[in-house]
Amino acid sequence: MKYKVLALAALATIIYSCASKSAVVTAEPPKVEPPVATAATVLTPELAEGKSLYENSCARCHRLYEPKEFSAEQWKPIVLRMAPKARLNEAQGMKVYNYVTMQ
Ligand code: HEC
Repeated sequence: MKYKVLALAALATIIYSCASKSAVVTAEPPKVEPPVATAATVLTPELAEGKSLYENSCARCHRLYEPKEFSAEQWKPIVLRMAPKARLNEAQGMKVYNYVTMQ
């Protein structure tokens, strides 16, 4: 009787380990191909407008800063301070902000 229980337990262990193994195999995530067109290569019309506003309005008084030079957190007060200097309205300032923080 005791052996039967042990044998059953062993069998259960084997079945369980096989089951969990096949579960691991099927749970593997499917391979996701990276998108061909990345945000860096294709700009939405909105971001393209931000880019041109930035390049045309923000280099009058100083060099054009690289968007990467500042984090999104740092750009926020900078754009708030600089947009009026560049005579940009709030919506235009927002587009510039979205452009410089898109990476
Ligand atoms: C009328 C002149 C003028 C225009 C136009 C202008 N800036 Fe500036 N900018 C300045 C001056 C002056 C400084 C340095 C003093 C300061 O930080 O206020 C500066 C500094 C900066 C800095 C460095 C900030 C820092 O904290 O180190 C950034 C970035 C910047 N400007 C971005 C912009 C952007 C973006 C625009 C367009 C929306 C813009 N600027 C338009 C005058 C201008």
